[in-house]
Amino acid sequence: MPDLAGLLSGLLLRVAKHWIAGETFEDAVMRAQQSSTHNIRSIINLLGEEITAREEASAAAAEYLEILKKIDRRRIQGCISVKPTQVGLSIDESLFKDNLGKILSSAKFLGNFVWVDMEGSPFTAQTVDAYLDFRKKFDNVGLAIQAYLKRSEEDVSRIVDRGGIIRLCKGGYDESPEIVYKRRKEIDENYSKLMRIMLERSKGFAIATHDEKLIEEAARLSSVHHTDFEFQMLMGIRDKKKLELVNRGFRVTEYIPFGKSWWAYSMRRITEHKSNIFLLARSLISG
Ligand code: FDA
Repeated sequence: MPDLAGLLSGLLLRVAKHWIAGETFEDAVMRAQQSSTHNIRSIINLLGEEITAREEASAAAAEYLEILKKIDRRRIQGCISVKPTQVGLSIDESLFKDNLGKILSSAKFLGNFVWVDMEGSPFTAQTVDAYLDFRKKFDNVGLAIQAYLKRSEEDVSRIVDRGGIIRLCKGGYDESPEIVYKRRKEIDENYSKLMRIMLERSKGFAIATHDEKLIEEAARLSSVHHTDFEFQMLMGIRDKKKLELVNRGFRVTEYIPFGKSWWAYSMRRITEHKSNIFLLARSLISG
């Protein structure tokens, strides 16, 4: 009797591998090395979120400390990105701050940089406040801000005014229309507005989108404002555009997730773009 659960999990992992490097750090290293031959830097992310056990959150933080050492030892052109609930925010704020503080100290010692991902709205306020606190002590930390959130204009202003570094993305969670813009046009307009605030007032930031119109708007405006920024895109999405931007002289970084907890991340990638449902169905049918 075949192990059906194992078979299904194997098939889903095969689809998920469009967006994740694999289950091990070595898989992420291989992808990072490939990208670096094209002058694309990497942001390495250990998959995992909404962790509910203290030991697991501390283990994830410890794993990040190892990842930072390995990035340094192996001279990988890259930094890391951490999810707040992966290191304790869904359990206890002080555990989160303790774990993130250790990661930031180690990254600073090694001359590396840490991005903090932004998760669902129950964690937004705590994440922004913690970021602003950490920013007083660490200059090697940036924060993702979601353009679909109505509160983001205020957050962007607060962060930029305190010299913080933002990664502007559209936002990937299912949220209520009371707190987010739902229509694509509104989200894109807010993205463009926040991007302009950063171009005018920030010292450095990242444009994290695959949206052709917004990317080209940023490219156009950059020749007027000369603010330091980079494009960031996810592994497995718009690879040709990454190369085109590098060839045009822009800095491009690729977000490379790896690890065994690939389910939630991969589901967000599959469901945010209709064509991926066909990809999933095709892969399941062809076995
Ligand atoms: P949009 O969804 O409008 O897509 C624009 C185009 O990109 C599409 O037409 C298609 O060509 C391509 N595309 C986009 N997604 C695709 C997919 N899954 N499969 C195939 N093609 C696709 N979110 C969050 O909430 N917190 C965070 O911390 C981060 N961090 C982050 C880092 C980086 C580097 C990036 C690029 C993105 C994030 N995100 C994120 C995810 C982000 O919020 C958003 O969900 C996705 O980037 C998709 O939105 P786009 O901006 O690409 O636009």
